[in-house]
Order: sequence, then C-alpha cells, then structure tokens
Amino acid sequence: MKITVVGAGNVGATCADVLAYREVANEIVLVDIKEGFAEGKALDIWQKAPIDLYDSRTIGTTNDYSKSANSDVVVITSGLPRKPGMSRDDLINTNAGIVKSVTENVVKYSPNAIIIVVSNPLDVMTYQAHLTSKMPRTRVMGMAGILDTARYRAFLAEALNISPKDIQAMLLGGHGDTMVPLPRYTTVAGIPVTELIDKDKLNAILERTKVGGGELVKLMGTSAWYAPGSAAAQMVEAIVKDQRRIFPVCIKLEGEYGINDCYLGVPVVLGKNGVEKVIELDLNADEKVLMEASRKAVREVMDVLDKLG
Ligand code: NAI
Ligand code: 2OP
Repeated sequence: MKITVVGAGNVGATCADVLAYREVANEIVLVDIKEGFAEGKALDIWQKAPIDLYDSRTIGTTNDYSKSANSDVVVITSGLPRKPGMSRDDLINTNAGIVKSVTENVVKYSPNAIIIVVSNPLDVMTYQAHLTSKMPRTRVMGMAGILDTARYRAFLAEALNISPKDIQAMLLGGHGDTMVPLPRYTTVAGIPVTELIDKDKLNAILERTKVGGGELVKLMGTSAWYAPGSAAAQMVEAIVKDQRRIFPVCIKLEGEYGINDCYLGVPVVLGKNGVEKVIELDLNADEKVLMEASRKAVREVMDVLDKLG
C-alpha cells in the first residue's frame, strides 16, 4: 500500500507520522512546495522507526509528484492554516488555488487514488478537489467530523471523569460554527449521555465543541494538528484495511437528508472503495433546522468558489 500526504506542515507531517508508526502502509510519501521541507520531515519520521519499531518507509519530495505515482490514498493538507481573527472561510482564495493545482498533480500520477481533503475551508475545498479530480463522489471526501466529534468526546470525558474510549458520538453538517452535534446520538458505554450529565453542562460542551478549532487558534496563533493529523490517518486506515468503520465524513450530498449539490458531513461507512454507504438518520424538527442552517452556510462559501471560477 502506498499513501501520499500533500503538505508537510503541522497536519500533514503529523498524519504521516501516525500512518508510519501505526504501519498503515509500507510506503508513505510526503510532498511539499517548500524546498527540502518534506524531505526533512520524512527523514526525521524514518529515523524514529528504530526507536518506535515500525518499518513503514517515509519518503519526502519537493513537488515531484512522480514519486507519489500509484498511491492508493492521497491526503491533501496543503494550504494556509487559520490565524487569530480569521474564520476558516477567510482562507478560500489562497487555498482553492492550492487544492486545485495539487489535485491536478495527484490525479495525473494516481488516477485510482481515493482523496481525503483536510485543507480549509474544509467542505468547500472538498468541493474544489471533487470538481478538479472529476472522480466519483465516493472517492473524494473531507476530514472534519472525526476531529469535531473527538473534541466533543474529549470534553465529555473530562466533565464525566471517565475514559474517552467509552464515548460514542455522531455529528452532521459543515466544518464550522454551524456544525450540528447530535446529543440524541451520544452514548457512554451504551448509556444515553443525557442520563449522565445535566442539560446546561451538556449545552456548554456542545457550544465549546462548535468553536473548538477557534479555541486552539487563540491559544497557539495557528490551528491544531495532533488531533487533525490523527483523524485523517484514521480515515486512511479504515480505507486501506477495508475496515468498514462508521465516521462522520464530508461528501457531496445527492438527495440524502433532502439536500442536493452541497458538501456536508454525514455518517458514512468507510472501506476499500472509499465511501461505501451514506447513512441517513431520521432527524427531528430541531435537528433539521440546524442542518439547513449549516447547508446554507456551506452553500454560501461554495458560491464564492463558483464565482472565483
Ligand atoms: P501548515 O502551514 O503547517 O502546513 C501547510 C503546508 O502546505 C506548508 O508546509 C506549505 O509549504 C504547504 N503547501 C502550500 N502550498 C502548497 C502546494 N501548492 N503544494 C504542496 N504543499 C503546499 O498548515 P497546517 O496547520 O498543517 O494546516 C494545513 C491545512 O489544514 C490548513 O488549511 C488548515 O486550515 C487545515 N486544517 C483543517 C482541519 C480540518 O479539520 N479539516 C484541521 C486542522 C487544519
Ligand atoms: C480546526 O478545527 C482550524 O479546522 C481547523 O482545528
């Protein structure tokens, strides 16, 4: 198996590191536009192998996509991260150009790859990659929901003073402040979370989750990378090992949830063909209102991309 990660910055290098030490693939290629950067990160990860005991090879390249040829999965993390005061949507102009040119190179050398987009604004960059690649929607997807639910689960674990391992959660919508966490579908070792925490505390956690990315940008002056890198690697692993795991993933909706032509996070089954199935939940009236608000917010940014041409 061969995986390429484009962008050897914070998220891309973390993702490559997780893929290597978890031995998800035997060949991991890191690509970056900055001279020597990907080569250096790949060499550093490879030099960790004798310490952490893995044999996945990591190879870096400055923009030479021939080294990425015939990758099974490609993760696109190239692009600017958020700085304090910026929304994810502020990144659209620069990152759309980057994601477009990267996707062209990816498809040229790996026409059969499954593409996972991480660059922000996530839902619209997934749209950009899908437009450019002309691949079926099941093979071009975005990573956000695993990260957003992980934040939610981590906050809940802290509040309940229990292991995060026992918390299961699902979330819908765009990767932004209009994301739709679903407390109705949150369980702790099978117990509905609403039986373990009072409403106000749960609401506070839901609100913190919605701005979870911004909280880290304020603290660090740039966006997060450990959890995002691991989340992208988890999607790669599900595909490469045909695990058929269920995750919230950004995909083009074609009628599901009554929505057409919009890229939003929904629960899917991930396996060797990419998105094997989109799972449609029976939303209640309140959840439908929130999903519609999220659709509208993402659609507005998609329209900006359309106008950019
Ligand atoms: P970073 O600045 O550390 O790394 C980005 C890398 O992309 C840099 O090394 C840069 O040289 C490279 N790059 C730029 N143009 C390129 C091109 N044309 N070809 C190849 N490489 C190129 O940024 P970081 O923190 O790794 O974030 C990357 C992206 O991921 C950002 O857009 C950020 O907003 C997004 N992000 C998305 C998350 C999500 O949940 N979907 C979570 C965290 C970050
Ligand atoms: C995050 O949620 C900024 O999308 C990035 O951390």
